[in-house]
Amino acid sequence: MNIKKLVAHKAIELVQEEMTVGLGTGSTAYWAIQNLGQRVRQGLNIKAVPTSIESERLAKKLGIPLAVLSEINEVDITIDGADEISHNLDLIKGGGGALLREKLVASISKQLVIIADETKWIRNLGAFPLPVEIVPFGWEITQKQIAKLGCAPKLRLTEGKTFITDNGNYILDCKFNEIKSPKKLGINLNLLPGVVENGLFVDMADIVYIAANTGSVNVYKRE
Ligand code: 5RP
Repeated sequence: MNIKKLVAHKAIELVQEEMTVGLGTGSTAYWAIQNLGQRVRQGLNIKAVPTSIESERLAKKLGIPLAVLSEINEVDITIDGADEISHNLDLIKGGGGALLREKLVASISKQLVIIADETKWIRNLGAFPLPVEIVPFGWEITQKQIAKLGCAPKLRLTEGKTFITDNGNYILDCKFNEIKSPKKLGINLNLLPGVVENGLFVDMADIVYIAANTGSVNVYKRE
């Protein structure tokens, strides 16, 4: 059973005619975009806002119409994955490196819907290294400043080369082990010169769908 596909299909049921839909990034969001493509082919009329070049390519391939960014003020619903989800629905995102665009699109979304398998559902955030997008200039200085917040930031590499985000930046993966106050940490990170954005999504998710290996899906809603 493909539980990523299962949970993605469940969330896509929330998409209605005429909506502007934020498209997430990653292997779970992939199935949501595939399913949305199918519904568009069946006649659903929506416009999409992709959160990465990868998701944009997939949407174009599937014939999903894209919104013009300069023409939108809000997004009706965004469906995205996450790397960790705490029981009060705070998130770590950015495992795929798309955190900046994901947060920007989420910030103007009336509803942020998170889809994930049960391995992502945890008591406290922090075991997954927090992705932080930084500017390449003086990145070692930014790394040292971030380390002072209580982690060992590692420059993300891909096939031995520095990973470059869709925005031309670097990513530092910062293992905190336990993040006691995600809100405070997110603010402190973003105050550092050189930091573009961090992968903590606090008070942003409205609905979380968690799929278990058995095929059951639990739904959690922000109170
Ligand atoms: C990309 C993300 C992804 O949503 C996150 O990494 C989860 O991905 P996957 O569904 O492949 O586990 O934040 O920047």
